[in-house]
Amino acid sequence: MTHQAIPGPASVWNNIEGISFGGDYNPEQWPVSVRLEDLELMQEAGVNFLSVGIFSWALLEPAEGQYDFGWLDDVMDNLHGIGVKVALAAATAAPPAWLVRKHPEILPVRADGTTLGPGSRRHYTPSSAVYRKYAAGITRVLAERYKDHPALALWHVDNELGCHVSEFYGEEDAAAFRLWLERRYGTIGALNAAWGTAFWSQHYGSFDEILPPGVAPSTLNPGQQLDFQRFNSWALMDYYRGLVAVLREVTPAVPCTTNLMASSATKSMDYFSWAKDLDVIANDHYLVAADPERHIELAFSADLTRGIAGGDPWILMEHSTSAVNWQPRNQPKMPGEMLRNSLAHVARGADAVMFFQWRQSFAGSEKFHSAMVPHGGRDTRVWREVVDLGAALQLLAPVRGSRVESRAAIVFDYEAWWASEIDSKPSIDVRYLDLLRAFHRSLFLRGVSVDMVHPSASLDGYDLVLVCTLYSVADEAAANIAAAASGGATVLVSYFSGITDEKDHVRLGGYPGAFRELLGVRVEEFHPLLAGSQLKLSDGSVSSIWSEHVHLDGAEAIQAFTGYPLEGVPSLTRRAVGTGAAWYLATFPDRDGIESLVDRLLEESGVSPVAGADAGVELTRRRSADGGSFLFAINHTRAAATVRASGTDMLSGERFTGTVEAGSVAVIAED
Ligand code: GAL
Repeated sequence: MTHQAIPGPASVWNNIEGISFGGDYNPEQWPVSVRLEDLELMQEAGVNFLSVGIFSWALLEPAEGQYDFGWLDDVMDNLHGIGVKVALAAATAAPPAWLVRKHPEILPVRADGTTLGPGSRRHYTPSSAVYRKYAAGITRVLAERYKDHPALALWHVDNELGCHVSEFYGEEDAAAFRLWLERRYGTIGALNAAWGTAFWSQHYGSFDEILPPGVAPSTLNPGQQLDFQRFNSWALMDYYRGLVAVLREVTPAVPCTTNLMASSATKSMDYFSWAKDLDVIANDHYLVAADPERHIELAFSADLTRGIAGGDPWILMEHSTSAVNWQPRNQPKMPGEMLRNSLAHVARGADAVMFFQWRQSFAGSEKFHSAMVPHGGRDTRVWREVVDLGAALQLLAPVRGSRVESRAAIVFDYEAWWASEIDSKPSIDVRYLDLLRAFHRSLFLRGVSVDMVHPSASLDGYDLVLVCTLYSVADEAAANIAAAASGGATVLVSYFSGITDEKDHVRLGGYPGAFRELLGVRVEEFHPLLAGSQLKLSDGSVSSIWSEHVHLDGAEAIQAFTGYPLEGVPSLTRRAVGTGAAWYLATFPDRDGIESLVDRLLEESGVSPVAGADAGVELTRRRSADGGSFLFAINHTRAAATVRASGTDMLSGERFTGTVEAGSVAVIAED
């Protein structure tokens, strides 16, 4: 099960052109006449890249060892005929009925012991040896068949690993968990020490005694929960690696990826740890229609994806042209919203714009999910917008390969997210993403670009570094953050950061253990607020959720709590460190408070917006190695807006006038 590094294949970007455009293509749902019409429509829209066969195993191998490739051969040939490149799926995301019948042990089991049955999709556990064997089997057969096909540009391995089910509690999972623990800790003594099993008689005599953290009378061991989370993320990735090993053997030159779901809604997979195994990062993103700030959540997700990609261009593998089918009320996208969404992803580093799916299904549970070709066909708003988007993306070809420029970073860590939200914490109102997203929102609204960076990744080149609720942190990561401050950056660390190490052991001697020295503060006790209550701070601003008893130990107080019992206790501090500074924020400011804090941090760090513009315009700049500078200005308002920039609007081909019309987008190739 260990990962053998296999020499990397060619970059996918060698195989596809311009800003790629397309989506999931499920021709198996349609008769040949429709598939032929698809080819015409794809050309009309400028489609050049499709993911094919994601859920087609049951049709490709209708009975064990009996294959039907005729339809896929035709599809591949026909797509090649119109110049479309294919991200061919390994078809393993939904096991066929014959396999489930023969091997029901592949099915996933929930914490309460319920086995999840077939009839939907993703009904397998990644640790099932049988499933891995069969999945590798169909993958090999597909690879052998299409290895020399000229349309094949990328392997699309499985689909959204961890979607629907991301924790696995079956017997085989338990055995794999034990093995994983044994490899991690070596001895049962080391595991006992790491999990703190002296507590509540949880001591283990051997690895055989360990179970996944299932349903129990009270709170479970946090070390066990954290490791189970790590294990599940690893198990999904290990399953992926098993399939990639097959693909590398047969098609060493063809890159592989799987579509991630990086967003504010996906917590279970540590995508930063997955990134090195993906030849290109691909992400799926869906708006929550009921969120009035859904475009800001989109920006957050895209920035996170770019962070996972280490700043390299990535593939937007799926988004929707309009409504989805899985929210309680599936409002369509507003006119122009799809173009804004698509170009917002490009603005934030995507070099491919794809959708779920090409043609809207007429049957199945996703039949009311929008697609590029709607039920209504060509005479629809959605189709016209799809064609316009295809044309726009062709004009943006020179943007490809350029990189987003940011001088601000937000530290992002899935492990801290997991650890901070395991039960029995000082307050259930401390949610990992809340403060982080409040800062991201403020920077978004100002047109300040920000990168999401893993705590142990290089922070060189960032003048502003925000560290929000980084509850657990390794020594090296804490040192990395401290080095950014001494090297000249303005670093802000928030409450509930640096509290524990990777084992979730509290760093003793006062909070925030790992950052105490850097920040020059010592916290003796937490004072989380009761539900709905607020605090007044010394400068008149308001905060909520959190307060604490902070002592200065080298830092200066910038702002203080008021009122009993923390009157005069610092709520915001600053310490000069090397050529930079370390700020500590001991509460959750309201929106005005965040704004005035961000003002100060930007002023001190010298980080400025990408350009000047009216409120409501999203701004990002991508720069290419040859000096090209592309300013994306996305007007999310319903009035024309001014943007101060000069150059050519690539979408109109004309000199940029300084105005971006209501709801529209300008991409300015700057002078
Ligand atoms: C994704 C999935 C697609 C489709 C889509 C609908 O999670 O990968 O197959 O189901 O959602 O929004």
